Amino acid sequence: MARMIFPDGKELKDLPAIQNRLARLNITLRHWPAPADERAKALMKQKSLNDAEKEELLGFVQNRFEQLKREMGYQTRDMVVIHEDIPNLGDMLAKFDKIHTHSDDEVRYILDGQGYFGFVEPDGKQFLLEVSGGDYINVPANTEHWFEMRGCTRCKAVRYFIDTSGWTPNYTGREREFAETTVTT
Ligand SMILES: [Fe+2]
Repeated sequence: MARMIFPDGKELKDLPAIQNRLARLNITLRHWPAPADERAKALMKQKSLNDAEKEELLGFVQNRFEQLKREMGYQTRDMVVIHEDIPNLGDMLAKFDKIHTHSDDEVRYILDGQGYFGFVEPDGKQFLLEVSGGDYINVPANTEHWFEMRGCTRCKAVRYFIDTSGWTPNYTGREREFAETTVTT
């Protein structure tokens, strides 16, 4: 379940309260429980997945993709698997841990593990949103945000796209407020 964290260390854990705060930025957060099927659970617990295993796991959440196609017009999806033994993991994550925007929505359904989105509010204040298994998030195009892993090393998430070419980060140059020590993972 999602957790909202502020620079002074205060936290918000109540889902409706988090959803209301995110709604100011037109961000949608839903709780979609991760699949409970034993095979799906086994795949989610693996450190890495080959292409066939990714497709198999995507099959367990195909109903979500069908819903998003109908409601939002998303066209494609894939699965990203982050773990501690990915070569050049630091370089990969460094593309997204600086404040940026992009011209397509950033839509993620976290199945396992966790990660942190950071957001900038209209008054310039920032907060972190910890997402973990069962969290679906839609960050609209042109929202100032970043993504980081902090102390965690693993995350499996479905990514949904209208057009993958719109998902290149445009860095805004704004500095993150959060010190590495702000969050206890
Ligand atoms: Fe992004």
